[in-house]
Amino acid sequence: MKDEANEADEANEANRERLRGKRILLGVTGSIAAYKSAELVRLLRAAGAEVQVVLSRGGSAFITPLTLQALSGRPVRHQHLDPDSEAAMGHIELARWADVVLVAPASADFLARLAQGRADDLLAAVCLASESPLAVAPAMNRQMWEQPATRENLACLAARGVSVFGPESGEQACGEVGEGRMREPAMLAADLAGLFESGVLQGVRVLVNAGPTREPLDPVRFLSNRSSGRMGYALARAAQEAGAAVTLVSGPVALSPPERVVCQRVETAEEMRAAVLDAAGVADLFIAAAAVADYRPRQVAGDKLKKSSPRLTLELERTPDILAEVAALAAPPFTVGFAAETTNVEHYARAKLAAKGLDLIVANQVGGTQGGFEAQDNAVTVYWPGGAKSFPLMAKDKLARLLVTLIAERYHAKNPAQDS
Ligand code: PMT
Repeated sequence: MKDEANEADEANEANRERLRGKRILLGVTGSIAAYKSAELVRLLRAAGAEVQVVLSRGGSAFITPLTLQALSGRPVRHQHLDPDSEAAMGHIELARWADVVLVAPASADFLARLAQGRADDLLAAVCLASESPLAVAPAMNRQMWEQPATRENLACLAARGVSVFGPESGEQACGEVGEGRMREPAMLAADLAGLFESGVLQGVRVLVNAGPTREPLDPVRFLSNRSSGRMGYALARAAQEAGAAVTLVSGPVALSPPERVVCQRVETAEEMRAAVLDAAGVADLFIAAAAVADYRPRQVAGDKLKKSSPRLTLELERTPDILAEVAALAAPPFTVGFAAETTNVEHYARAKLAAKGLDLIVANQVGGTQGGFEAQDNAVTVYWPGGAKSFPLMAKDKLARLLVTLIAERYHAKNPAQDS
């Protein structure tokens, strides 16, 4: 009995961890079950998720925007594609913002509109414009649920990859008994958490490096760069959530390592090389997101350099190319490099892919006002021999999950024998 209770506690804790920091767009449509979405918002927020509610016209007949706003801590968006709201955070931004879209309750009418690909209100437009996972929690009278039209709409949505949570059987608000009750909020929160555990890297040993390196000039000064570590840390977390055993080798950054990721902190390129080569021998997959210094001071002064002369010339020497060394190992892991370029991004990225013998390269434009170093968001194009895929500007966490899915696809294509 005690073991069961412990297991349930652990499962709840794991679900909370999966939901922490996730951006959940909750669509609420016209059903008496809309009152349950208030509790769902509360549970998701308690797990550390951000929740943006979009209320359909039908939904607003059952629950007020004020209730959902108070619980979500964000103004509720509702009904129409109105010009004022579109000017602030329009349907495209909302769609990009969301890590997942859940419509709960999803009425029979909304499911029909979703199946038709309609975009005649804000919620339907967001669902159509979103690249993120989409889930629905149907809620309706049992006869509406049993209608062939409803079942066909659901089958069509499921075939397109929409997750369907529920419904449950039981007593209904209309007094009838049967299938059509919306799943309870706690169950929906667990269902949502499950969407972030893809399992695409189950059992794969992943090594990620992240952040900058610091190359000392003297005991108090160093050469470094603007890498915050965000991209690499997001990849480590996404790989862990995809089932991988993850080791993170991190340069000096102000981030806490993701839960259940083994993290080794280093300072210099030489230290990063040693830590990466040590771990690469037992890694199946290496993702090199670190911004390793290309050069370091040839001499490191033992004492603080004095400002005695008007000019100081530093002599620099190359650092080891960690990524190239890993790719050149006798039995290298599947190797993913990054390319940070200010111009001719595709040209330089493809050149690095070939010169370093990589399986895949993630190219980002850096040095501008959006994406790249330090920013919360990034936009990348991934190249591999025979293919390419672009990802528009989005939060690094979300991008990392999409990248992990693509990397896993390419990894399994190269290692079919290792698939279970
Ligand atoms: O950390 P953030 O603020 O989130 O920013 C993310 C990022 C911009 C740092 C990240 O997206 C990124 O592009 N990382 C690679 C940065 C880089 O050093 O790119 P590069 O084009 O100079 O190097 C190419 C590849 O070789 C990289 O995978 C790099 O890790 C690797 N390299 C480079 C030099 C070296 N001495 N050893 C290496 O392993």
